[in-house]
Amino acid sequence: MRAFSHLFFSFLVILFAISCSDAFTRNDFPEEFLFGAATSAYQWEGAVDEDGRTPSVWDTFSHSYNRGNGDIACDGYHKYKEDVKLMAEMGLEAFRFSISWTRLIPKGRGHINPKGLLFYKNLIQELRTHGIKPHVTLYHYDLPQSLEDEYGGWINRKIIKDFTAFADVCFREFGDDVKLWTTINEANIFAIASYSEGFAPPGHCSPTSFFNCSTGNSSTEPYLAGHNMLLAHASASKLYKLEYKSKQRGSIGLSIYAFGLTPYSNSKEDEIATQRAKDFLFGWMLKPLVFGDYPDAMKRVWGSRLPVFSEEESEKVKGSSDFVGIIHYTTVYVRNSTSTTPSLIPRRQDFFTDMGAETICTPMKHSSTLQDTPRIEYIQAYIGAVLNAIKNGSDTRGYFVWSMIDVYELLSGYMYSYGMYHVNFSDPSLKRSPKLSASWYTGFLNGTMDVSPQDITQMQSHFSGSSSL
Ligand SMILES: *[C@@H]1O[C@H](CO)[C@@H](O)[C@H](O)[C@H]1NC(C)=O
Ligand SMILES: *[C@@H]1O[C@H](CO)[C@@H](O)[C@H](O)[C@H]1NC(C)=O
Ligand SMILES: *[C@@H]1O[C@H](CO)[C@@H](O)[C@H](O)[C@H]1NC(C)=O
Ligand SMILES: *[C@@H]1O[C@H](CO)[C@@H](O)[C@H](O)[C@H]1NC(C)=O
Ligand SMILES: *[C@@H]1O[C@H](CO)[C@@H](O)[C@H](O)[C@H]1NC(C)=O
Ligand SMILES: *[C@@H]1O[C@H](CO)[C@@H](O)[C@H](O)[C@H]1NC(C)=O
Repeated sequence: MRAFSHLFFSFLVILFAISCSDAFTRNDFPEEFLFGAATSAYQWEGAVDEDGRTPSVWDTFSHSYNRGNGDIACDGYHKYKEDVKLMAEMGLEAFRFSISWTRLIPKGRGHINPKGLLFYKNLIQELRTHGIKPHVTLYHYDLPQSLEDEYGGWINRKIIKDFTAFADVCFREFGDDVKLWTTINEANIFAIASYSEGFAPPGHCSPTSFFNCSTGNSSTEPYLAGHNMLLAHASASKLYKLEYKSKQRGSIGLSIYAFGLTPYSNSKEDEIATQRAKDFLFGWMLKPLVFGDYPDAMKRVWGSRLPVFSEEESEKVKGSSDFVGIIHYTTVYVRNSTSTTPSLIPRRQDFFTDMGAETICTPMKHSSTLQDTPRIEYIQAYIGAVLNAIKNGSDTRGYFVWSMIDVYELLSGYMYSYGMYHVNFSDPSLKRSPKLSASWYTGFLNGTMDVSPQDITQMQSHFSGSSSL
C-alpha cells in the first residue's frame, strides 16, 4: 500500500514550523474566532441498533474487517451529557459533530425517527445550555446501507435528491440552533479512499494482484462520486439559501482534506508535479466551488472519464460554499511519478496514477499516553501558524482539534487515539480521563496560559502528580 494511506493511521506529526518563543494567547485572535474540537457520529455515538437506527455503509464495512467497529465506540449516544460537561469544563467555544443519517431517517428517505430526532435536539440543547456553538456536519462517511443497496449510493445521481431531502430535515429541525453547517466531510479524500483506493466504505476499487475490492473501477468511480458530491452539496446549499438562511442566519460550506504539499527535490519536474498534485487534490473540489468548473490539468488527464457540469449545474456549484473547511494534519513530499523506478507490480489506473505524482510521508510520531506532550506541541504550533496566517490577511474563522475525545478511527480502529480525553475502551463504563493536552487547551482557552515551553513543563510536573492513570 502506498505511503499515502499511512497518513490515516498516524495523523500526528510534530510541526516545528514556528518558533516556540513567539508566545501568544487566545486574546491575540479575533473575539468571534471559534476554538473547538470535533468527533463524528459513527466514531463517537455507538448505540448502532438502538432506538430505530439502521446500518450505514460504515457499519457494514467495519464488520467486514478485523479492526474493531463503532457498535459501542464512546457510547456518546448515552453519555452525551457527560461529554458536553467535559467540553464545558475545557472551555470549548464550539463542537463539531455529525448527524447519523440512519438514526434520523432509518430508511434513508421518508419516515423521520422520533427518537433519533430527539437525540440530536437534546445534544444541541445541551451544548447551547453550556454556551458551546454546534457545528454540524451532515455527512461523514456513513451513507444509509439501504441507499447503497438500492442504487449504488454516491456513484448514482439519485443521491443528490436523497441527500438534499436529508439536509432539509436537518435545517428545518435544528437550524434555529445551528448556525454552522458542513455538508460533506473531506469530500475529496472521501471520494479517493472509498472509490479509488477502496479502504473506506463502501470499499470500491479496481482489482490488483495484491488487493481486490468486491467491486469498483478506480479510473472512473472516484470522479463520478466526487461530481455527485459537489452537486449534492450545491443542491443542499441552494435549498438552505432559498428556504432557511434569511431567518436562521447560518453559513454552509464543504470541507476538503488538505495535505501540505512540498516538492521532494528542487528539480523542475517535482515542482511541476507538486502544482499538479494541488490541482488534483484540492482544485478538483475548490475550482468548481469558486469558478463552476474543474481545473484544466485534470480535464486533460481525465478526458472522457470526466463528468461534465451542465451550464445550470455549473452555476449552481459556483459560489455554493460560504466557507471551505480545511481538514489538515500533515505535510507530504511530492515527486513526479516517472522520475522513480517503475513499480514491480503492474499498477492499476487510479486517482494517483492519473495525478502522475507520488506523495511521500515525513516521519511521524504518535502519542497515546496521558502525558501527550507531542500533541500539545503539535496543536500549539498549528494554532500559532493559524495566527500568523490571520495576521497575514487570511480570513480564517475557527479551529477545531481532532478529536475532542478518543474515538473509533476509520482505519486504525481503537489502536491509535487522537483525543484530548482518553477513553478506556476495555472498561465497561468507558471511563474518560483528561490527557495533558486537555489541560493545555483549557489554559489556552481561558487565557491564563500563553504557550511558551515553560508552561508545558510546569503543567507536566503538576499533571504527573495528580494523574490517576
Ligand atoms: C473502468 O471503466 C473504464 C471506462 O468505462 C473501462 O475502460 C475500464 O476497463 C474499466 N476498468 C475496470 C477495471 O473495470
Ligand atoms: C484480484 O483479482 C484478479 C483478477 O480479477 C486476480 O488476478 C488477482 O490475483 C486477485 N488478487 C488477489 C489478491 O486476490
Ligand atoms: C513527469 O511526469 C510526467 C507525467 O507523469 C511525464 O510525462 C514527464 O516526462 C515526467 N517528467 C520528467 C522530467 O521525468
Ligand atoms: C505572508 O504572505 C506573504 C505573501 O503572500 C508570504 O510570502 C509569507 O510567507 C506569508 N507569511 C506567513 C507567516 O504566512
Ligand atoms: C481500563 O479498564 C479496565 C477494566 O475496568 C482496567 O482493568 C484497566 O486497568 C483500565 N486501564 C487503564 C489504563 O486505566
Ligand atoms: C484555566 O486553565 C488552567 C489550566 O487547565 C486551570 O488550571 C485554571 O484553573 C483555569 N482557570 C480558570 C479561571 O478557569
